[in-house]
Amino acid sequence: MDSVNILAFESSCDETSVSIIRDGKEEIATVVLTQIDIHKLFGGVVPEVASRHHIENITIVIEECLNKAHMTMNDIDAIAVTYGPGLIGSLLIGVQAAKTLSYLFHKPLIPVHHIAGHIYANNLVEEMKFPLIALVVSGGHTELVYMKDNYSFEKIGGTLDDAVGEAYDKVARVIGLPYPGGPAVDKLAHVGKDTYSLPVPLDDDTYHFSFSGLKSAVINLSHNETQRGNEIRKEDLACSFQNRVVEILSKKTMKALKEYHVDRLIVAGGVAANQGLRENLQKLCHENNIHLIIPPMKYCTDNAAMIGAAAYFAYKKGRIATLDLNAKATEELK
Ligand code: KG4
Ligand code: ZN
Repeated sequence: MDSVNILAFESSCDETSVSIIRDGKEEIATVVLTQIDIHKLFGGVVPEVASRHHIENITIVIEECLNKAHMTMNDIDAIAVTYGPGLIGSLLIGVQAAKTLSYLFHKPLIPVHHIAGHIYANNLVEEMKFPLIALVVSGGHTELVYMKDNYSFEKIGGTLDDAVGEAYDKVARVIGLPYPGGPAVDKLAHVGKDTYSLPVPLDDDTYHFSFSGLKSAVINLSHNETQRGNEIRKEDLACSFQNRVVEILSKKTMKALKEYHVDRLIVAGGVAANQGLRENLQKLCHENNIHLIIPPMKYCTDNAAMIGAAAYFAYKKGRIATLDLNAKATEELK
């Protein structure tokens, strides 16, 4: 196959992003327009506000990306889009834009699952080899995925309640940190001590996770201390919370690598930006001879480059959509 330039769209939450990726590995140009500053005012993403901003921004972002790449639609071989899961109103804008360009310019349309995108962000770092275990940790997902081969996903475990990023955001709110909470808690955890006693979530033999008990313990502890007139040591609470999260994610990931006889690990999703998690996995993988790939920060949070990378492999597998493609708020990775 000659080289393939894919124009990719990502609009599942609060980032409007368009990217051009060659052969699933080479980033030609990416534009990410984040709405973080807008949603910060509300303490979290407001779906209606997000979709309105996607509408306003999408054509500007497409144009900017093509300009940045010094390309026109003639240089594009296929169009890819995140069709789910995510906020339905936000997803619809990307899907509609991608369908329109696919129809107008007669380019194949490739539907990409958001989590497949997060996973394939790693292919922009180095060529992914198989089999591997993917630890997917984001605002909406906490999953362990076994990949026997390219673009084959077997979910072996996941959260039974809150996603890990969601727990970070709620804990941040309780201790008075701004949205998005993950980076703020992470930063604070680094200057704190692990002094608070918090429960370890679902510390068992399964590959499942549960973060709501841990989150509630932080909320209760914070309320109780406030009622007693005691100051919360925010940095120590952040550190204790983060250590419990990192411990359980690392423990179950290492168990999966061992039991599936796999020596390759990739980490994906917004929480892969977490310094505590990165450091602990680096240490454990080094000790256990596991080849670890974690994307740089810019590929961890939502972006269209990862969608363009995944799309190339979906395309090679013949996963092409027709123009009746619809956005899906919930969708299993397959
Ligand atoms: O992947 P992402 O951009 O969006 C979803 O697909 O959900 O992930 C966003 C999540 C948010 O919950 C954010 O707080 C969290 O990733 N996050 C972090 C860090 N950076 C972002 N959580 C912990 N530590 C971080 N450094
Ligand atoms: Zn995401």
